[in-house]
Amino acid sequence: MLISQMTLAEKIQQLRQVFKISKEVREALPPGDNSPIPDIDSLVATGAVGSVILVTDTTAEADRIQHVAVESSRLHVPLLIGADVLHGFDTIFPVPIGLAASWDLSLVQHAQAVAASEARAGGVNWTFAPMVDIARDPRWGRIVEGAGEDPYLGASMARVQVRGFQGGQAVDGDQRIDVNHVLASLKHFAGYGASEGGRDYDSVNLSEEALRNTILPPFLAGVRAGVGTVMSGYMVLNGVPASGNRWLLQDVLRAEWGFRGLVVSDNGAVGNMVAQGFARDDADADLRGFMAGVDMAMGPADRSPYGTLAGSIRPGWVSNDDVNAAVSRVLQAKLRLGLFEHPYIDETQAKRDLAARPEHRALALRAAEESAVLLKNAGGILPLRPAAYRRVAVIGPFGDSRQNTRGPWLFPRNNGEAVTVFEGLRNTFGSRARVRFLPGVQALRIPASPFEFLSKAKSAGLWDAARARQEMRDALALARESDLVVLVLGEDRYMIGEFASRSSLDLPGGQQKLLEQVASLHKPTVLVLLNGRPLNIAWANEHLPAILEAWYPGCEGGNAIANLLLGVAVPAGKLPFTWPRDVGQVPMYYDHTLPQDPINVSARYWDANSSALFPFGHGLSYSTFDMTNLRLSASRINEGGSVDVSADVENTGNLAADEVVQLYIHQRYGSAARPVRELKGFQRIALIPHEKTTVHFRLDAQALRYWSAAAHGWVNDASTFDIWIGPDSNASLHAELTVET
Ligand code: GLC
Repeated sequence: MLISQMTLAEKIQQLRQVFKISKEVREALPPGDNSPIPDIDSLVATGAVGSVILVTDTTAEADRIQHVAVESSRLHVPLLIGADVLHGFDTIFPVPIGLAASWDLSLVQHAQAVAASEARAGGVNWTFAPMVDIARDPRWGRIVEGAGEDPYLGASMARVQVRGFQGGQAVDGDQRIDVNHVLASLKHFAGYGASEGGRDYDSVNLSEEALRNTILPPFLAGVRAGVGTVMSGYMVLNGVPASGNRWLLQDVLRAEWGFRGLVVSDNGAVGNMVAQGFARDDADADLRGFMAGVDMAMGPADRSPYGTLAGSIRPGWVSNDDVNAAVSRVLQAKLRLGLFEHPYIDETQAKRDLAARPEHRALALRAAEESAVLLKNAGGILPLRPAAYRRVAVIGPFGDSRQNTRGPWLFPRNNGEAVTVFEGLRNTFGSRARVRFLPGVQALRIPASPFEFLSKAKSAGLWDAARARQEMRDALALARESDLVVLVLGEDRYMIGEFASRSSLDLPGGQQKLLEQVASLHKPTVLVLLNGRPLNIAWANEHLPAILEAWYPGCEGGNAIANLLLGVAVPAGKLPFTWPRDVGQVPMYYDHTLPQDPINVSARYWDANSSALFPFGHGLSYSTFDMTNLRLSASRINEGGSVDVSADVENTGNLAADEVVQLYIHQRYGSAARPVRELKGFQRIALIPHEKTTVHFRLDAQALRYWSAAAHGWVNDASTFDIWIGPDSNASLHAELTVET
């Protein structure tokens, strides 16, 4: 076995992962940043690292560094080459929160399989995705990377994304991963989305009940789908940093769930435990991270992840067996990928993948169409009738922004093409209308440097005052001379994602003013949002007839949005989170427990309407649907029993359309108080006009069990349950189920 040939130093080197930031980017650093450019080649050639993370490198560079590893290192051990491939590699899909809004599991699995194929052809064999953190505070910018607020939707998305990335229906962690797929990584284990105040990296305080019932289910679903790796988080969870947390990494992940794959820390998370006041120094941090269960430490090369670990290998501290176990998990991941047989880019696969690119783009178009959520459509202004409009104005800072159509978590290597909203509308209207664009305002000053993808530019508000006034005047003049205005507003991709929390949900820059000025012209106006968190659009919802949530829709975004606005495609997306009226309401989510005066649930604040602007699961269509005849296979079952739930759904409109039928339950009493509603099933179905179908769900003991703080364990209570079926979390079609002991 390879391990027996390794020296202790070589073993520990397999436990180290460093960033490989290409020379040209380093050299593009702003003047004065003379941080050393670590010589990754020599680290790799001497086998000093087991893995590298690509940030900017090209395919050729990725393959070259693999050749260095295999041909130069003493034991010719190939590298795990990781990258953040969250929503596409060359073909860019909607951001994950948008994919979740499609509620279309097969689409999401297919999209991530395409991303995997392109990434593997691009020299990447490990993606740090899916991000499965439950997010209930939209001030936290990383809400855009996950599947929103709900554990059931989150678990469903985790399962299909792992299968998409890794391929097959892996039910355990040993299934081989072929050359069209990559190793996946569930992140960030666990609880990162509950950072206090929505402030990224801030401490997290969660009860075990919240962890077990809300935060952990998506991770468990991903483990059960055979994920190869899990990434431990940055933040301090209940006083213990996630990357030094034995309860998380040993008791839950390994002992309870039986996870046998690789645990990698987040970037520098082991060393950060010194700054967090947990570890005394780097040696203490390395020791405690390793003993807690972090197999591989990720970090910049100049911070030498696990650089002191060798000094802790001694009786009573780290044993050789501990090291061998961690190293074997790293080597197992490489074996699973077939890297020992074919470490380099597989030319046949690369050619096959390249030939499939048109199909990939078609899928990206469909994904963008299916992800969009029609929030409002008063008076049926949508779908637009092209013949009614001759002069169309596209106004707003994101109306013709390629980068914001693609969204965050993308790097120069991910190629820059994307069809903007302006281009999509101009393509679709064709000669029928003159389509013009003006930004109106700037939402964020985009740094000019090639380094832009790493810099976190702050919202710089407006251009200089004179230019800002002129831009606004020009945009309003264009609106006045047009017979339709498509406002494209939202948040710049730098204002969301990592290290991008906000204390406000207001439209940044001068967008609110632009919105109000355009609305004051009383032209037919549609608002399209490019964003990744719920923004404060309460005023827009009062004053505009139609609002389409388009997320960051990816490379085909403009065509998708044009198809949706003109009815070529029919929206069916549903919100994966509760949309607050104001930031003062957050955290806000639908599956809360009942207050003692449930009647006044919407009057909880003296100074504001306490209800959501839009509920979890909300999304309109251009057609209408009727859900009737909810029936249970039995109205009474024993504890541990199961029941079939079905209902009839009819497309009562005159357009073929999809609907997402949702199943919710409420347990009325038991060993603990339970949420007013819990999502326990959904199906996205397609119906032609006046077509009727029956949807079926099954509620079994697993679906009805929960972790009870009173019983300090998993329970299935004898109780009475409300069962609802409907188009969102306010579903009203009702039945009652009794579970008896
Ligand atoms: C980042 C993120 C993590 C990402 C990793 C590698 O800091 O927290 O999500 O996968 O570093 O880029």
